[in-house]
Amino acid sequence: MRRRVRKAIFPVGGLGTRFLPATKAMPKEMLPVVDKPLIQYAVEEARAAGIEELIFVTGRGKSAIEDHFDHSFELQEALAARGKKDELGLVEAIVPKPGRIAYTRQIEPLGLGHAVWCARSLVGDEPFAVLLADDLVLADRPCLAQMMDVYAETGGNLVAVMDVPKEHTNRYGILDVVSDDGTLAEAKGLVEKPKPEVAPSTLSIIGRYILHPEVFEQLDKQEKGAGGEIQLTDGMARTIGRIPFHGLRFKGTRFDCGSKAGFLEANVAFALSRADLKGDAQDILARYGKR
Ligand code: G1P
Repeated sequence: MRRRVRKAIFPVGGLGTRFLPATKAMPKEMLPVVDKPLIQYAVEEARAAGIEELIFVTGRGKSAIEDHFDHSFELQEALAARGKKDELGLVEAIVPKPGRIAYTRQIEPLGLGHAVWCARSLVGDEPFAVLLADDLVLADRPCLAQMMDVYAETGGNLVAVMDVPKEHTNRYGILDVVSDDGTLAEAKGLVEKPKPEVAPSTLSIIGRYILHPEVFEQLDKQEKGAGGEIQLTDGMARTIGRIPFHGLRFKGTRFDCGSKAGFLEANVAFALSRADLKGDAQDILARYGKR
């Protein structure tokens, strides 16, 4: 029997410089797509995949995230007093069960691998998920749940992947593929942000991972990689040979909400996917599409 994946890490320590001035006093993970912060989409996706414990790796200026997932006494009292049951239900549902959410600070911004490594003692010796809130996925079955289905067969390390244009390989972790059935690919190596001319493929990691705890042991070495940062990609790569590594082409659309165009597109796509907003969104697009 495979050990169940119960815990998820959310690295939320980044400065969000690409979204200044919006992120000057607000975490980038709190930017809303339509009416919900990015981080809440990620947490809901984790819960839908059976995750029970949420671990946030934060930094300075990120307290709005902690407040968002906490009981809001004044707001909840006011909604209850005014009989606003729907809104109250919505707010109450955000708060995890007591003791099922933990925060640790990254202290120094040394890279994604370092951020994940900071959660090592909160995770312990068991498989875990990592979700990057910047990568938002619109899918019928949430991306991490699709991965859990496949992980039941593969075990090891499993990441979500998608094919990208060759000129974009320098934005992603890239798989060196040994076998590929069109849905599931197995890798014999990984490279973080290779230039197109040296990229082993165009199959790119997006921010959803199910990882074996041995990745922590590799990250313990604190070796710096691309961009002088401690890379999660390198930590995973060093386990290949002992631990199977697979990439799943998930069903759905991924939006890079770390970029302005991706964020804008996510807002449009999520509005169009909602029964309460679809009509308005279509009208707006029809009006602006012609300009
Ligand atoms: C990180 C990872 C990269 C991955 C990407 C997905 O990069 O290092 O391997 O492909 O997330 O979004 P970042 O976007 O933080 O530079």
